[in-house]
Amino acid sequence: MARRALTPYDKPMHGELEVPGDKSISHRAVILGSIANGTTKISNFLDGEDCMRTVKAFQLMGVSIVKQESTIIIEGKGTSALKEPVEPLYFGNSGTTTRLMLGILAGLPYFTTVYGDASLTKRPMDRVINPLTEMNAIIDGRNDGSYLPLSIRGEALQGITYTLPVKSAQVKSAVLLAGLFANGETKVIENTPTRNHTENMLQAFSAAISTDGRETTITNTQTLTATNVYVPGDISSAAFFLVAGAIVPGSKLTLKNVGLNKTRTGIIDVLQAMGADLQITNQQVSGGEEFGDITITYTELSSTVIEGDIIPRLIDEIPILALLATQVEGTTVIHDAEELRVKETDRIAAVVDVLTTLGANIEATDDGMVIHGKTALTGGEIKSYNDHRIAMMGAIASLITKDDVILDDDSSIYISYPNFFEHLKDITI
Ligand code: S3P
Repeated sequence: MARRALTPYDKPMHGELEVPGDKSISHRAVILGSIANGTTKISNFLDGEDCMRTVKAFQLMGVSIVKQESTIIIEGKGTSALKEPVEPLYFGNSGTTTRLMLGILAGLPYFTTVYGDASLTKRPMDRVINPLTEMNAIIDGRNDGSYLPLSIRGEALQGITYTLPVKSAQVKSAVLLAGLFANGETKVIENTPTRNHTENMLQAFSAAISTDGRETTITNTQTLTATNVYVPGDISSAAFFLVAGAIVPGSKLTLKNVGLNKTRTGIIDVLQAMGADLQITNQQVSGGEEFGDITITYTELSSTVIEGDIIPRLIDEIPILALLATQVEGTTVIHDAEELRVKETDRIAAVVDVLTTLGANIEATDDGMVIHGKTALTGGEIKSYNDHRIAMMGAIASLITKDDVILDDDSSIYISYPNFFEHLKDITI
């Protein structure tokens, strides 16, 4: 636990940063590399606490995974070489590890128990357990099997057709991963598109998967073929510096090699709708994932409405977008974001609390928030709620506050952005 005082910085920021690898893609690369046959080399892997939970889980199941700086090398020997873990798997704060691993563990012939930290223990798991149970999985846990700790007894699974009742890529991914082991076909239908990294990566590892509009179908593929993966920078991490460039007058920042998968770029659409000066250059594709450099040049912005199908495309960026909304003229309204209530913390309540403490004019609604700009932010003592994205939002706010921002605890930042404060320092000297 580390308390941190952040001093306001009222000069333009200039510079280039390469944000760490994408969290969602890093998890998926470890999962597929660990069950595939052959050597998988993952470069620009996110060395954050969450992704290391996934690494540790497979190491406990006997997979050789070696880390050399930001490269991970996995010697995959297929699912038949995995071992039943002799100890419970600890997933820390990581919802992605938990939900995706449930999809894998449900189809392996082992008994496993899984648990997590206080935040993860409060997050709903029935959204994943329900479809997996329909596939024949045997999963039990606290509160009628809806919350961690959970036990999983792997079973012969049966393919299903499942329409997602929640806008969740984690649920979609759990069902598709279980579909690798299930008899016949497994089909997932989503009414609102969510991030499709699992689909892209299953394709790259030669699974029998296809997507047609909003339906994705996978057929039993016991043997995946290893492949090398380059993990682009995480747009959810870049988001903090995109907003920094958008709120500090005179700034110009370039974020290099940032993932630009269309299911994740809602923040770019919102910034453009607000009138931001954004340039995207050096666009490339690797493993089905687009990436490129984003340059933001400060300009006055105006308010917008964020709702509907764009929400899953920017769900993790809403805390930092709320900070941005405090610095633009007019009222910004965010709707349809009720999923924020079940993230690492209730992010609607946390964002409203932190920004109110800093002097913003913001109200919570059931499914989002209403922010009246533009307000001068004061500074003050804020709570991170043990949530990395709330802590980083508070740190970025300090760039423009009148007085210091005191963060009660900055340790959650290691979850997704271990070198965040170094990067903040690089552009504020
Ligand atoms: C993620 C999906 C999203 C997101 C989370 C990562 C993933 O969660 O908020 O940070 O990697 O699939 P939901 O699926 O719960 O929306």
